[in-house]
Amino acid sequence: MDYIVMMPAAGSGQRMGAGYNKLFLMLGNKPILIHTLEVFEKDPACKGVFLAVKQEEQSEIQAVLDQYKIAKVSRFVNGGSERQYSVAACIESYDGDDIVLVHDAARPFIHQAVITELVRTAAKYGAAIAGVQAKDTMKLAPLGVVEETVDRETLWIIQTPQAFQIKVLRKASNQAKSDSFLGTDESMLVERLGYPVRIVESTYDNVKMTTQEDIVFGEILLERQRK
Ligand code: CTP
Ligand code: MG
Repeated sequence: MDYIVMMPAAGSGQRMGAGYNKLFLMLGNKPILIHTLEVFEKDPACKGVFLAVKQEEQSEIQAVLDQYKIAKVSRFVNGGSERQYSVAACIESYDGDDIVLVHDAARPFIHQAVITELVRTAAKYGAAIAGVQAKDTMKLAPLGVVEETVDRETLWIIQTPQAFQIKVLRKASNQAKSDSFLGTDESMLVERLGYPVRIVESTYDNVKMTTQEDIVFGEILLERQRK
């Protein structure tokens, strides 16, 4: 089933500490951004990518896309001051009715099988998000003192991609905007309207490149792929 991607890439990578947008950092012999885009470049079901970027980085990003022959970026959108606003800008500039897959540019190791299952599930039920089960013992301790040990079988660590029927995502995004609600993912916006959101089991290697340690892990994952 066809889908389009809305990809926020307009961050500044503060926690990575490179001094510039971490998406330009090399992982193996390619920038992180290119690794992520290549997943969709290879998927015939992906009809295009809306890429939210900082206006001042657009020409540099275009040059990198040309260098690595990325052809699926169908539109640049001006990113916002928060990730949610960058995704909202993509939603506002889209007038089609395909399934939408929101995916962080900073997650280069997403598996094709997970993407396919997310799109299928969202088409059927409205919303589907990638997650993995918690591996460690999980405790609720809002003030640093344990209130409860939570059954980890019931807890999921949520990633992107997150897939939605566009009408669901648009409604949730518009409502968040009018309520000035800021969430940490698009699913939160959908959940607060009462829509069911299904979890699709993803993989532990779908890490977000956030701090220097993630780059070390990413290099090891690339090595594994080469074997
Ligand atoms: N992002 C975005 N617009 C923003 C902030 C983030 O499009 N205003 C994008 C990032 O480029 C990244 C994804 O959202 O692909 C996930 O965000 P995160 O990992 O937090 O990246 P940064 O915001 O760049 O990093 P940091 O929070 O450490 O500054
Ligand atoms: Mg951020």
